Amino acid sequence: MKTWQRKDLLGIQDLSADEINFLLDSALAFKQVGERTVKKVPSLRGKTVINLFIEPSTRTRTSFELAAKRLSADVINITASASSLVKGETLKDTALNLQALNADIIVIRHSAAGAPHFLGKFLKASVVNAGDGAHEHPTQALLDAFTIREKKGRIAGLKVTILGDILYSRVARSNVWLLTKLGAEVTLAGPSTLVPRVFEELGCRVTHNIDEALRDADVINLLRIQHERQRKTMFPSTGEYTAMFGLNKERFSRMKPDSFIMHPGPINRGVEIDSDLADGNRSVILEQVTNGLAVRMAVLFLCSGGQFSES
Ligand code: CP
Repeated sequence: MKTWQRKDLLGIQDLSADEINFLLDSALAFKQVGERTVKKVPSLRGKTVINLFIEPSTRTRTSFELAAKRLSADVINITASASSLVKGETLKDTALNLQALNADIIVIRHSAAGAPHFLGKFLKASVVNAGDGAHEHPTQALLDAFTIREKKGRIAGLKVTILGDILYSRVARSNVWLLTKLGAEVTLAGPSTLVPRVFEELGCRVTHNIDEALRDADVINLLRIQHERQRKTMFPSTGEYTAMFGLNKERFSRMKPDSFIMHPGPINRGVEIDSDLADGNRSVILEQVTNGLAVRMAVLFLCSGGQFSES
């Protein structure tokens, strides 16, 4: 019998393969809830979930809100611009005040790496990392893995290429930790300025050759250029990036016929991915979003002490 023992979900790096598989299996049960006529369960009735988003988000914030509502929790959303953080209140004081209002779970996105870990040290409430700077985005990696497992039936032995702006990507880091723990072979690809060799220390392969990156891949996970994290000095122009590393139809035609395309979003159509490919039948980009809901229901349920045991 296995049960979830953690109060917080702060990252993938510290999780065991068993814990990851337990989360993915729990998400499968919650995906089935989402396919019923009545999509709501009483699992978190009486609990309060606060989404504290200090960085912009469409998918993650909406997904956590909907996940909490599907579990019958009360949900409050707080954005930086509408909070007293803009008046100089510290993150610690903000979090302590939310806890004083009996928050049971605080979901936080913050531009500073380690912000969720900091809160997790002193809060009695559960803390869930919805993306901390360039560090981790654990629920994105879990929903990516869930989607791969759903499509391929397994993760071990698969070749997954992550292509794009890796250097400051929390999605890339969480994916590398998760996929390698579950036995996939991960390749990171892109310009040498955005994909330095030091990433090999995480247990993956690094290449700056797009053809080599795509040739044997079962899955291609594309990352957008993060213009907001200052990219002007990393490559000559967006056009040049697209020409050298964009996934276009010609490159995609040389990939394995049963390979598929992932992207965490938001996508830059015509930059890292051809628009038709993003909408094509080998793209699972929107399925990832759907699966994110099930994954986040599982995370909220388990971190709040839900006993979803498996034998
Ligand atoms: N994938 C992802 O984190 O998207 P958002 O920034 O819209 O939440």
